Amino acid sequence: MRPLEWDVRFGTGVAALDADHREFLSLQNGLLEARGRGRGHRVLHQVLEQLIAWAEVHQAREEAMFDASGYPAAARHRAEHARLLASARNLRQRHAMDLERLTRAVLGLFDHWWKRHILEHDLEFGRYLAAAAPVPTVSADVTVDATV
Ligand SMILES: [Fe+2]
Ligand SMILES: [Fe+2]
Repeated sequence: MRPLEWDVRFGTGVAALDADHREFLSLQNGLLEARGRGRGHRVLHQVLEQLIAWAEVHQAREEAMFDASGYPAAARHRAEHARLLASARNLRQRHAMDLERLTRAVLGLFDHWWKRHILEHDLEFGRYLAAAAPVPTVSADVTVDATV
């Protein structure tokens, strides 16, 4: 797995969510880079803690937007959030697991989270918001002739 650069195609169209998703990528890249320098095991627990803290804040932010926009797929998306967060918390409990295996498991979770959640479900939510955007108001220059 290689570090991934942010790309415009990853955007949901919602600045706050995109900023969070960039943070997610930088956590993932931080672990990959540390691993490349032979320091993956040292930063692993800290990165996992940061991922959990990130998810708690980010997912709540996204879910508040589901409520505000009446997103019809909210229940499915929320369930997916709960599963991802549970997986991360579960890995935090694996004290007995060999550090190399744990590193691979955490990187696997990042990969799944990025490709199967952010790039699928979160972008789908972004498309919903874009389609549901309020119709622009008619320009004030347009007048209606009511003298007929
Ligand atoms: Fe999400
Ligand atoms: Fe997200």
